[in-house]
Amino acid sequence: MNSGKGQTMWGGRFAATPSAIMNEINASLDIDRRMAEEDVAGSRAHADMLAEMGILTAADNEAIQGGLDRVSAELRDGTFPFRRELEDIHMNVEARLKELIGEPAGRLHTARSRNDQVVTDFRLWTRRALDDTSHLVTALQAVLVRRAGEHAATFMPGFTHLQTAQPVTLGHHLLAYVEMLERDRTRLLDCAVRLNECPLGAAALAGTGFPIDRDMTAEALGFARPMANSLDAVGSRDFALEALSALSIAATHLSRLAEEIVLWTSPQFAFAALPDEWSTGSSIMPQKRNPDAAELVRAKASLITGLFVALQGAVKALPLAYAKDLQDDKRLTFEAFDTYDLCARAMAGMVETIRFKPDAMRAAAGKGFSTATDLADWLVRELGLPFRDAHHVTGRIVAMAEGKGAELADLSLGEMQKVHSAISKDVFNVLTVEASASSRTSYGGTSPVRVQEQVAQWTQRLRLE
Ligand code: ARG
Repeated sequence: MNSGKGQTMWGGRFAATPSAIMNEINASLDIDRRMAEEDVAGSRAHADMLAEMGILTAADNEAIQGGLDRVSAELRDGTFPFRRELEDIHMNVEARLKELIGEPAGRLHTARSRNDQVVTDFRLWTRRALDDTSHLVTALQAVLVRRAGEHAATFMPGFTHLQTAQPVTLGHHLLAYVEMLERDRTRLLDCAVRLNECPLGAAALAGTGFPIDRDMTAEALGFARPMANSLDAVGSRDFALEALSALSIAATHLSRLAEEIVLWTSPQFAFAALPDEWSTGSSIMPQKRNPDAAELVRAKASLITGLFVALQGAVKALPLAYAKDLQDDKRLTFEAFDTYDLCARAMAGMVETIRFKPDAMRAAAGKGFSTATDLADWLVRELGLPFRDAHHVTGRIVAMAEGKGAELADLSLGEMQKVHSAISKDVFNVLTVEASASSRTSYGGTSPVRVQEQVAQWTQRLRLE
C-alpha cells in the first residue's frame, strides 16, 4: 500500500501523482462519507467470511474487527479523520484501519473490489433510506387522517377543470391524498424488496478465484441472497433508479397537495389560512402572507424528477460493467431522499396547522349551480324522466337562474314549474349543498358517513388511537 508516488492506494504503477483538478473531479468523499457506517458493516461481514473460509487468519480477523470497532466509535463521536485526498469513504475507512491496526488491514481487501464494495454500501444505505422515508409518509398520512376526521362533514366545492362541479366534503378530499400516499409508501417498500440482493463478492466485475461464501456475507448484511451475476452486481443501478422514480411520483403527490394549499390560502379562494409558522411576509407589501413552504414543495417535486432523469442519463448508455459515471449515483440519490423527506415534513407541518374556513368553503360549494346534477337525478328518480331529458330540463333551469343572478335553491317553485310542470316542492330537499354531498353514499363516495367510515379504517390501519 502507498508503494507508488503520492498517497494513493492504487499508486503502484504510477510515476506521478494526479493533478489537483483530477483529484477535485475524482473525489467523492464529501458525498459518500454518509455511507461510512455501511462501509464498516460491509467490511465486518467480508472479514468474518474470509476468516470462516480460511482466507484470513482468526487473529487477523480479530485485529480487523477490533479496528473497525474503533473506526465505528470515531465515526459516532465525530473524531474520525476524514481525508479528502483519499478520494472516497472506502479508502478513508481502510486507511484509518491501517493506522489503527497496521498490517492486517491490508488483508481486508482480499477477494473484494471497491466496485462491489461501493454498491454494497449504497444498497445498504438506500434500503435504510426507503424504510425511513416510508415512515415519514405514514406520519403525513396520520396528520391527513386526523384532519379528515375533523372535517368529515365540512362541505366544499368539488372541482373538475377547476370549475365547481359538485359539493364534496373536505374530509373526503384529504383522504384522497391518504390513498395516494399509501401507494407512494408501498412503492418505496416494494423497491426495497427488489433491491435486497447482495453484490458483495462480485469483486471488480468477474467474481474471484478465492473460495468465498457469498451466502454468508449476504445473510450477515440482511440481504435475501447474493446477486447471481457479477457484472450485473457491480454495473447495475436500477435499484437507485427505482427508488428515485418512486420518490419522484411521491413528490408529485406532495406537489399537488402543496398547490391546493397555495390555491386555498389565496384571498380569492380563502378556504384556509396558514399560521404564522408556515407563512412568510413580503418586504414591500405588508398585507401579504405567502405560502412559501408549499410553493417550495411544488418546485422541489420537479427537482426530484430531475435527479431521476440525471441518473437515468448516466446509466442508459453505459457499457457493462462499472464506470466512474456511477460515482454520482449517490449524490443524486441522497439529494432526492433529503429533498423528499424535507418536503414530507413540511407538508405534515402545514396540514397539521392549516386553519380551514368551513363557512367560506360551504358558501363556495353552493355557488356555480353545484347541485345541478342532483336536480337532474331528482327528475329521473321522482318524475321518471330519462336522464338525457332530465339533463336538458336542468340545463334550462340553470340558465334561468343564471339569468337572474341566482342559485338553484333561490328559484321559486313556480319558476321551476315553468320549465317542467311536474316539479314539486320536494325538489328543494336535494338542492342544498348538504343534501347533495350527503346523498353520495356509494362506496368511495363523499358523504360524511362514508368519510367517517374511511377515517375509522385509516385510524386503525395507522394505529392512531
Ligand atoms: N468512489 C467510487 C464510486 O463511488 C468507488 C468505486 C471506485 N471504483 C473504481 N473502479 N474506481 O463509484
